[in-house]
Amino acid sequence: MSTATRTDFDAELRRHNEVLRRACGIQSGEHVLDIGCGTGQTTRQAARKARAGSALGVDLSAPSIEHARQLASAEKLRNITFEHADAQTHPFPQDHFDLAISRFGTMFFADPAAAFANIRRALRPAGRLVMMVWQARDHNEWIVAIRRALEITDASGADAAGELNPFSLADPPAVTELLEAAGFAEVTFTDVHEPVYYGADIAAALAWIHGFTCTSETLKRLDHAAAERAVTRLRTTLAAHTREDGVWFDSRAWIVTARCR
Ligand SMILES: C[S@@+](CC[C@H](N)C(=O)[O-])C[C@H]1O[C@@H](n2cnc3c(N)ncnc32)[C@H](O)[C@@H]1O
Repeated sequence: MSTATRTDFDAELRRHNEVLRRACGIQSGEHVLDIGCGTGQTTRQAARKARAGSALGVDLSAPSIEHARQLASAEKLRNITFEHADAQTHPFPQDHFDLAISRFGTMFFADPAAAFANIRRALRPAGRLVMMVWQARDHNEWIVAIRRALEITDASGADAAGELNPFSLADPPAVTELLEAAGFAEVTFTDVHEPVYYGADIAAALAWIHGFTCTSETLKRLDHAAAERAVTRLRTTLAAHTREDGVWFDSRAWIVTARCR
C-alpha cells in the first residue's frame, strides 16, 4: 500500500471546488443548505462566507456527518450545523434558506421530483440553487477508462446499483423540466472542464477507485484469477494517467443554477 495520503472527495475534486465556490457567490448574511454534503468541505466554505448567516449540511451517511462535525468543530465555526438526513424527505424549515448548494450530492435521489420539490420548499421566494453534477458518462474520461479496464459494457450487467447513477442529471433538457416542475425557473448550465485527481500514485488511485460502486461490484462478481487480471488492467490504465503530480483523469461537469419561481 502506498505511503501517500489517502484520496478523498476533497482531493479528487480539488479543481472543481473553486469553480463551484465562485458560482455560489455566497453573501455574508445568507442561510445556505448543502445537499449531500459528505464530510462538509463545501458547507464549511459556505459558513465562512456567510459570516452573518448560517450553513446547514445534510447527508444520508452517518459517518460522513460525524466526520463533518469534527472538521467544523476543529475550525471553530459557530454558524454551521449538520443533519444526518435524507434530503428528499427531511422536513427542512420552509422558506428559510437563501441558497441550496451541492457538490455532486444530488444525482442519487430515488425520487428526484420529490427531492427537488422538498429543497424548493426550504428556499425563500427569492432563493436559488447552485449544484455541480456530472455531464454524460461518455464525456467523462475517468468512467470510460475504468469501465474499459474492468470490461464493463451496458450489456454486461455489471453496471452495478442502477439506483446510484452519478450521471442521472447529465441531460440539460430533462433537468430543466425536472427543476421547473419542482418550482424553479431560469435554469442554466455551465460547462466545467476540469480533471479529477485520484491520488499521488497508482496504489493510492487504485485504493480510491476500489471504493467506486462500479469497481467493487464488478470485482465481486469475478473469480479470483479474473479479478486479478482486471486489477492489472486497472493498474495499466492508472499508469497511463500518472503525471509528476499524481494520477489525473479528464472530466466534464455542469454547474446548474436555478431561481425559485
Ligand atoms: C459524491 S458524494 C459527494 C459528497 C460531498 N458533496 C463532496 O463533494 O464531498 C455524494 C453524497 O451524497 C449523499 N447523498 C446521496 N443521496 C442523498 C440523499 N437522498 N440525501 C442526503 N444525502 C445524500 C451521499 O451520502 C454522499 O455523501
